[in-house]
Amino acid sequence: MDTNKKILVTSALPYANGPIHIGHLVEYIQTDIWVRFNKSQKKSVAYICADDAHGTPIMLKAKELGITPEKLIEKVQKEHKKDFASFYVNFDHYSSTHTDVNEELCKSVFLKLKENGFIEKRTISQFYDEKEKIFLPDRYIKGTCPKCKSEDQYGDSCENCGTTYSPVELIDPVSILSKSKPITKETEHYFFKLKSFREYLINWTQRNNLQPSIKNKLDEWLKDDLNDWDITRDNPYFGFKIPDEQDKFFYVWMDAPIGYIAAFKEFSKKNNSFEGIWDNEEVGEIYHFIGKDIAYFHALFWPSILEGSGLRTPNGVFCHGFLTVNGKKMSKSRGTFIKATDYLKYLDPEFLRYYFASKLNDGIEDIDLNFEDFSQKINSDLVGKLINLASRCSSFIEKKSNFLLSDELEDQKKFHSFLEDVKEIENFYQKRKYSNAITKIMAMTDKANQYINKKKPWASSSDDEIQKVATQGLNYFRTIVIILSPVMPNLLEQTEKIFNEEKLFWDSCFTPKLGSKIEKFVPLKERIKKEEIESLNNSLLDEVEKKDKIERKDMVEEIDYESFADIDLRVGEIIRAENVEGADKLLKLEVDLGELGVKEVFAGIKKYYKTSDLLGLKTLVVSNLKSKKMKFGISSGMVLAADSDGDIIIISPDSKIRNGSKVK
Ligand code: 2FM
Ligand code: ZN
Repeated sequence: MDTNKKILVTSALPYANGPIHIGHLVEYIQTDIWVRFNKSQKKSVAYICADDAHGTPIMLKAKELGITPEKLIEKVQKEHKKDFASFYVNFDHYSSTHTDVNEELCKSVFLKLKENGFIEKRTISQFYDEKEKIFLPDRYIKGTCPKCKSEDQYGDSCENCGTTYSPVELIDPVSILSKSKPITKETEHYFFKLKSFREYLINWTQRNNLQPSIKNKLDEWLKDDLNDWDITRDNPYFGFKIPDEQDKFFYVWMDAPIGYIAAFKEFSKKNNSFEGIWDNEEVGEIYHFIGKDIAYFHALFWPSILEGSGLRTPNGVFCHGFLTVNGKKMSKSRGTFIKATDYLKYLDPEFLRYYFASKLNDGIEDIDLNFEDFSQKINSDLVGKLINLASRCSSFIEKKSNFLLSDELEDQKKFHSFLEDVKEIENFYQKRKYSNAITKIMAMTDKANQYINKKKPWASSSDDEIQKVATQGLNYFRTIVIILSPVMPNLLEQTEKIFNEEKLFWDSCFTPKLGSKIEKFVPLKERIKKEEIESLNNSLLDEVEKKDKIERKDMVEEIDYESFADIDLRVGEIIRAENVEGADKLLKLEVDLGELGVKEVFAGIKKYYKTSDLLGLKTLVVSNLKSKKMKFGISSGMVLAADSDGDIIIISPDSKIRNGSKVK
């Protein structure tokens, strides 16, 4: 990388049909750290992004909500911008692909490709939903896998055996929109002749900044025959019209990457110093940060489209892996699908930035968010070591020298040798090896704490000595915050305030702050409390419950009489009721069922009953329910309760009925 050149950086454009979640944030935080690092090195960097506003899912979502797609994308864009800002993701320009600038650009790229002989019109056969009057994208068709015969598979690939196929190969295809059987219908589409770029791409992948694993994947794809790319979608579609056509639109994946250039053009109106970067490689470098799932689009289609229309190609495409939560794919039904707004209700956004940084490197492996590990890293490393260093040292400066830092450090040589690690950390950031950078930064924090522990200012009788040692400690803190600032920009701002300093850059860390007054120390970050994580998890589980309830209401399934008759209902008396440690919703009950003995049952009724309300209460119990192992013990039955206007009430029969009587 040429250090003096301008750098244009993008992250993938998020779809405008849903909220930002923490899985998205891996990429935006990864990119933002890189951009902030380069900016702190006083490089000229522009970070550009936009909402990806077109396509069938957005059109259908708007229809479902009864609003226009334009209204939907406007609303979502506002939410996206707010979420990004809350996580300190700092774009130099954030646009949408649904702009006049992008429409013009798409048309001109298309016409250029056509003029250069890279566009061909072909008649194809596609599935069509006659009820909904729409050609069906592959994901809107389901059927039986032609290979393993597994049912309910999408039109492009089988989740069971992994085979990819064309939707027309599916057995018993059904449109997921109308649940009807689609017909095949002919239509004329424009194709981009990707095949013509094979040699070019082989060369391009060699000379560009790509990760080895991505390069291997590209080599594999390039060994096979490339398929020409269908860039057309038929009406109805939310997108840009193809020139000289009535009912044909550009496929969203054609106008989305062109949106990178369009958003850049808008940015150029505010800052024209990057002018010409898309035409001329001499002006600067272009890097795309993306998820590994869209490498095909960015490393095959995109360079070919650019080359074919006479534009320059990016210098690098940096891929990352996916986020898992507690080792598994994020899932709405497991309560691990965490929206940016969910997270923000309970936790500090910079903690997530720090945690992701501590896990991210230049590879494409998935990274895992494990809440125990998360709390441990934040509490013991970030708060316990780094913030605590500042709080210890500033209290000495406050008490012993009336907020005044000493004019010199206690051990200048030691401070200089401490700074020796900074160069290596720069290198780690530049190569996107953030986890290495964080490890090194924490090792520096350990060194700083060791210095204080060794000097024991609390045991010294010389105020002068205490002032110098604490000044050195605070300068260690200041240095660490500066080199951590690409990850924790807000912590830097808070620190600037404490030291009464204006904007600190990377190089500021080499010049200690001496002889000036500091402000009163306020706790900069607080430890994560167990309850905060629990509250976040519970709020997600509540969402799942709410959704389940709505779904249950929508489809109450009937059971036959035999199934009902199998249930053995008994009357029992609650003889013991207690709270379950660590469970928010459960009570542990012991129910006396007469001749059937006493059963232990866990019931999710803590919100509605105090344990004392339940003692002696007669209740209906399903006595022949199979025992179920739960996190807190084994539940051997079920106490019947019913939903009454949002409250849960235990069903209690006439108390004259004997315990254990079978209810007929
Ligand atoms: O995969 C996605 O989420 C797409 N919206 C990314 C588009 S990136 C670019 F090509 F525009
Ligand atoms: Zn299959």
